[in-house]
Amino acid sequence: MASDTIERMIVSCGSSAGQLTALLLSSIVLLSFGAKFQITEAASSRQRPGDVNDVGSYFAIEVEDGALRTPDLITKYGYPVESHEATGADGYIISLTRIPPKKPRHRTPMLLVHGLLASSADFLIIGPNNSLAYLLADRDYDVWLADMRGNRYSQGHTRLNSSSPEYWDFSWHEMGYYDLPAAIDYILRQTGARQLNYIGHSQGTTVFFVMASSRPEYNEKIAHMYALSPAVCLKRVRSPPVRWLLQHVFALKDLFDAFGVQQFLPHTSSQYEMSRILCPLNDPNNICMQVVSMTVGPNPDMTDMTAMQVLTGHDPAGASVKQLLHYAQLQRSGKFRQFDYGRRNNTERYSHWNPPAYNLSAVTAPVTIFYAVNDWLIDPRDVVRFSRLLTKPPTMHLVEDENFNHLDFTMAKNARSMVYERILSDLEQRERSNLIL
Ligand SMILES: *[C@@H]1O[C@H](CO)[C@@H](O)[C@H](O)[C@H]1NC(C)=O
Ligand SMILES: *[C@@H]1O[C@H](CO)[C@@H](O)[C@H](O)[C@H]1NC(C)=O
Ligand SMILES: *[C@@H]1O[C@H](CO)[C@@H](O)[C@H](O)[C@H]1NC(C)=O
Ligand SMILES: *[C@@H]1O[C@H](CO)[C@@H](O)[C@H](O)[C@H]1NC(C)=O
Repeated sequence: MASDTIERMIVSCGSSAGQLTALLLSSIVLLSFGAKFQITEAASSRQRPGDVNDVGSYFAIEVEDGALRTPDLITKYGYPVESHEATGADGYIISLTRIPPKKPRHRTPMLLVHGLLASSADFLIIGPNNSLAYLLADRDYDVWLADMRGNRYSQGHTRLNSSSPEYWDFSWHEMGYYDLPAAIDYILRQTGARQLNYIGHSQGTTVFFVMASSRPEYNEKIAHMYALSPAVCLKRVRSPPVRWLLQHVFALKDLFDAFGVQQFLPHTSSQYEMSRILCPLNDPNNICMQVVSMTVGPNPDMTDMTAMQVLTGHDPAGASVKQLLHYAQLQRSGKFRQFDYGRRNNTERYSHWNPPAYNLSAVTAPVTIFYAVNDWLIDPRDVVRFSRLLTKPPTMHLVEDENFNHLDFTMAKNARSMVYERILSDLEQRERSNLIL
């Protein structure tokens, strides 16, 4: 019965987005349900003899990387690793993975925050000499990778069990309001530093601007904020399946509610096994490539097949349905504001019909924005619009490659040359000018 309903919903959409959207949506729905009812297979990360795994990678990575957890991935490539936890004021426990510097040289630690449905592994996927976390560690920065609540690494709570519905009643508002301050205070306490540098990708920037506007005292704990594809204005989302999803998520919500599904694309132990069967490495048009391209913008030349496969072992890493709803509200209203519970409930909660807007004028931390023309999720015009809402004008970097897409910020063959090297030289420059001051 459930699949009938889903099928009808998808057919009735009849949009120009076409079959791929339907396919993506059915996989999303099925995966969410699958995880809910725990359809799990024994997952195996071993390379099987039948696999087409010798196509070679542009990066120094291996297919098995997709089956490793963040700390194991870091250890595998010869870096020291520490696991930490920070507890927010509402009881959610956030996992922090640290790559401590071999010889401490910089006063300011680095905090890296992943995007929606992603995890700390995003900053490691393309391996040493390329992934941002390793590049920073190579230059002796103290690197901290956060995992936001609800993803596979951060499901702890002082009181709630993550299998209870109450646990999943959060959006990115709570991540910015509780998780980030807890993570920042913890890191500053551990390191004795006064400030840290923040690098966020996509939702990792949304949560930053929630924090910096609603807890303005945290601005002074930020030496610099690097926003990779900032997700604050979403009016012009170009990706057909994502547009469809944002438009229909309220209908999907009823379906999810009826079945008690609160998680959106949770990480499952069998997802890597499945994607390795469905998405052979030697087929550049495999279904993973197509779905990802339709979602983030196509850039086949700069996409490494092995990295793409490794990605499917890490992401989707889980989120709450409410996170997605909040983005849909953001896209629909065009207003960066708290979750909309409907007029009656808003009045109870916020003493106003409308949810309160985040006060971007309160953001005083210095910001550098990187954005891209071919980003099908965060349109460059929306980024420019957002940048004008900040009182302190941010430094703007439009990535020079016009094919650069949303995901390329974490895994393109030219992510290092287009984005990371600029961040590294910018950090060095700032440090030098601070020494002189
Ligand atoms: C990283 O690059 C340097 C020089 O560019 C090279 O010597 C080193 O072997 C590379 N490391 C890896 C793991 O590829
Ligand atoms: C959470 O609930 C599940 C199932 O209800 C149970 O198996 C698990 O032990 C609980 N976890 C904790 C930490 O209480
Ligand atoms: C509004 O509040 C009522 C009662 O608490 C609840 O049943 C309903 O689901 C809420 N609506 C929304 C959109 O959260
Ligand atoms: C927004 O923040 C600015 C700067 O802190 C402050 O002057 C202004 O009153 C705030 N606006 C609202 C509506 O809170």
